[in-house]
Amino acid sequence: MAPPNDVFISMSDSTHSTSHQALRESIDGKSGLIGRFNFGIFKARGVRQERLHDTPYRFWSTYAIAYVFGRRLSGTVDVLDAGGCDGGTLKLLENLSLSGTYTCLDLAPTMGPPANSSIEVTVIQSSFADFKPPRRYDAVLFESSLECVENYQDVAWLRNSLNPKGFAVITLATRNTEYLWGDFPTKGGGRYYLDYEEIALVFGAIGLKAVEFIPLVGVSGRLANYLLHNYLCPIVRRVFKITVGRLHPRLAQMDPMWWPNRLISTASVVLDRLLCFWPVGHCIVLERA
Ligand SMILES: C[S@@+](CC[C@H](N)C(=O)[O-])C[C@H]1O[C@@H](n2cnc3c(N)ncnc32)[C@H](O)[C@@H]1O
Repeated sequence: MAPPNDVFISMSDSTHSTSHQALRESIDGKSGLIGRFNFGIFKARGVRQERLHDTPYRFWSTYAIAYVFGRRLSGTVDVLDAGGCDGGTLKLLENLSLSGTYTCLDLAPTMGPPANSSIEVTVIQSSFADFKPPRRYDAVLFESSLECVENYQDVAWLRNSLNPKGFAVITLATRNTEYLWGDFPTKGGGRYYLDYEEIALVFGAIGLKAVEFIPLVGVSGRLANYLLHNYLCPIVRRVFKITVGRLHPRLAQMDPMWWPNRLISTASVVLDRLLCFWPVGHCIVLERA
């Protein structure tokens, strides 16, 4: 799997340790969050409940983004959702009682006009590479979308798109997770992942420093994610469709894994308190270097 090029230099062992050290140095030593699981994310405000019925990775990343936004944003803000697709993040801003502007940037946005939102919404159809930020933002989110970017020069605009006190939040899978996603990387997802040790170097090359780092999903969540995404969900949905769905066509649109997914994700978080290693991904907060 090719890493993001240009800004990614081949990693010798010494580069690994240098970047690791640089990340440590770039993070406020008092935060104590370096590379450690932070179960405080599950106390986040404003969480988008509708997203908690997906995979454990989605479950964790939904909480982590709400946790970061809830602590760092208040009042009137300008937010860019890079790879925002259906614009669902608007709901999080509303849940947090924020006002201001929300911009959904995507190669193929599916966001419709929002109903009764107090937040001004703009949808921009553009690739990351062609995007020229029309303003500066208090927060820029890349949720599961930076995995689609092979060359980080495509997002070199990120640094200057941030207000002086602005930040970027990125959720990104670790390199050893391809087996978890089935055919998703080739159908809408991305396949350019990063490990913890690479983060300082890669983002440093585009003028950003990591100030917060939240590992996402431990070992039991990883196992649950694998079984749910690749086996349990497709099988149960198929059986549901050809049984209940045929007998009661009105129920065919229901997702029989809606509640089981949420329960399994919740249970795996409890287990992951004991098995908090081998993360599936990370939520990274970046500021201008
Ligand atoms: C996996 S989806 C994530 C969508 C949304 N952020 C979420 O978490 O539900 C990735 C999104 O990134 C967008 N995307 C992929 N490559 C892109 C590019 N080069 N420029 C702009 N958008 C891109 C896709 O169109 C897609 O909507």
